[in-house]
Amino acid sequence: MRRVIIDTDTASDDVVALIMALREPSIKVEAITVVAGNVPLDLASKNARVSVERANTYIPPVYKGVGKPFMRKLFTSEFVHGKDGMGDMNLPEPKVTEEQEHAVDAIIHLIMSNPGEIEVVTLGPLMNLALAYLKEPRIAEKVKKIVIMGGAGLGPGNITPVAEFNMYVDAEAASIVLQSGMPITMVGWDVCLGKTFLSEEDIKYLQQQSSEIAKFCVRCNQSVEEFDEKRFGKKGFDLPDPTAMAVAISDDIILKKYEAYAYVETKSEQTYGQVIIDQHHLLEKNANVTICEEVDAKRFKELLFKNII
Ligand code: BDR
Ligand code: CA
Repeated sequence: MRRVIIDTDTASDDVVALIMALREPSIKVEAITVVAGNVPLDLASKNARVSVERANTYIPPVYKGVGKPFMRKLFTSEFVHGKDGMGDMNLPEPKVTEEQEHAVDAIIHLIMSNPGEIEVVTLGPLMNLALAYLKEPRIAEKVKKIVIMGGAGLGPGNITPVAEFNMYVDAEAASIVLQSGMPITMVGWDVCLGKTFLSEEDIKYLQQQSSEIAKFCVRCNQSVEEFDEKRFGKKGFDLPDPTAMAVAISDDIILKKYEAYAYVETKSEQTYGQVIIDQHHLLEKNANVTICEEVDAKRFKELLFKNII
């Protein structure tokens, strides 16, 4: 059985990704490590633990990690996800509790004691993984694979004209991870635009199911749905984290990908957090990332619906 750590700044679409993963028979979620991002750390931890309860399968340990970017103030996105990060459902505290160990130490332990076995899927800013690498650089050669939801390929950003949210929150952390030598696949926001967008019909279909899980997955994205209607002028919502999770579960849903050298802008205020991809090998550096360019949207939705209905 494949063994996976999920690192998450849990809000709406992270919730769907966590539930997808916990209900996927081909993988075992060994740990959920929480980081600040969409919402502050404590709220992200609560939302991660709510997701574990809602998935109703097994209970992996949930570890709290880094609550603040390395160099900057935390930038959160309640304006997208609702004040609670869950479409303002204001849910009670879950019964699932947090572990005592820090997420960074849990990441190091799991990877170092299981060389070549652990895959990591990151759904939020990269402070936990960057700090784990700084503390124990050997994780870069011991980890099996990293799938990152982050960046925007060659398309526009979603938080500045050029930067995607997870990279923008802490570009220094993202830069450390990208330069670490870990085997990284990046699923950018561009991949989710249009193609894996959940349409009005998809949402109706999920709401008509008897599954409480499917209804919950739609409900906790309600604020995102309202935000996306204003942003894109159409009903539905985008699912970046579940798209990355689908790639992590089954990378044969990738239709187009390429390897390249990529780095993150950290110096310029205007382009802070932009992932720059050296498509034409102008810098003559070895590729450090596999960039996912397109996924099979039909298969993505089949996998999503199979796991959340
Ligand atoms: C990413 O930012 C968050 O809002 C989502 O959870 C996703 O991880 C998209 O840019
Ligand atoms: Ca996220």
